Amino acid sequence: MMRRAWDVGMRVLALTIDVPTGSRRNRAMRGGVALPFRFSRKVLLDLATHPAWALATARAGVPRVENYIPYANSANFAVVGKYMADLNKWGIDWDDLRRVRDLWKGRLVIKGVLDPGDAAGIVRLGADGIWVSNHGGRQLESAPAPIDVLADIRDAVGPAVKVLFDSGVRCGEDIVKAIALGADMVFCGRGFVYGTGAGGAAGAEKAFTILTDQTRRALIQIGCPSVAALTRGFLDERSLPPPLPAAARREAAPRVVGAK
Ligand SMILES: Cc1cc2nc3c(=O)[nH]c(=O)nc-3n(C[C@H](O)[C@H](O)[C@H](O)COP(=O)(O)O)c2cc1C
Repeated sequence: MMRRAWDVGMRVLALTIDVPTGSRRNRAMRGGVALPFRFSRKVLLDLATHPAWALATARAGVPRVENYIPYANSANFAVVGKYMADLNKWGIDWDDLRRVRDLWKGRLVIKGVLDPGDAAGIVRLGADGIWVSNHGGRQLESAPAPIDVLADIRDAVGPAVKVLFDSGVRCGEDIVKAIALGADMVFCGRGFVYGTGAGGAAGAEKAFTILTDQTRRALIQIGCPSVAALTRGFLDERSLPPPLPAAARREAAPRVVGAK
């Protein structure tokens, strides 16, 4: 996969490490969302009650997980689904990260980091960016909110490392707060999924317009001339999360990130 990405011109690789195994998503289970896809009673009811969507989907064909088809050696959803599930059950450790760093000649970003010590260790390993994220809260119920650990991670990696941020960003003010706390880039997942669900490509575009407009307005409201000028000083100190205890800022020894 890395070779394919390189060959088509990709020069920045984001490696997600917060899915060492799949999580048990009760809401998805209740909603009948599962891989491989099944025509459950709930899905059939959804199809019947959303005829326009059902027709459009039928016309476009059942969604396929294109990326994995060449490796699973099959386009069959059940086979590909099992292949993906198997891939995700081995965990990931520092040796895996080192191997990826050695193999990938472009820039490397590690996604799903929530611990300042881990962030410092990942930078020492040669990564170019840290993506602070808890996967939108979809993986580990007890994981901290990324916004609460962002400032500590920025302090742990220093100003030269790119810090990317996501999870829970729902409006322009969230973007402003994340940048003020040290993020270089802020991402939004479900905001665009909801926009797309409601209005297709135009809906995604509209979500983008709303977020941009809200960000501009928030900057004007707090008297900040530009995104680049945002600093922690623009935040009310009383609303900032308390700094993590010194023990949490420890230098990361090369230890296991996830269970292997
Ligand atoms: C339906 C869905 C599928 C996702 N799949 C992946 C994935 O395959 N790899 C990944 O790194 N993150 C995945 N994510 C997580 C997003 O990249 C992102 O971290 C998260 O959505 C940000 O939180 P937010 O939705 O609150 O903005 C997924 C998120 C959603 C909602």
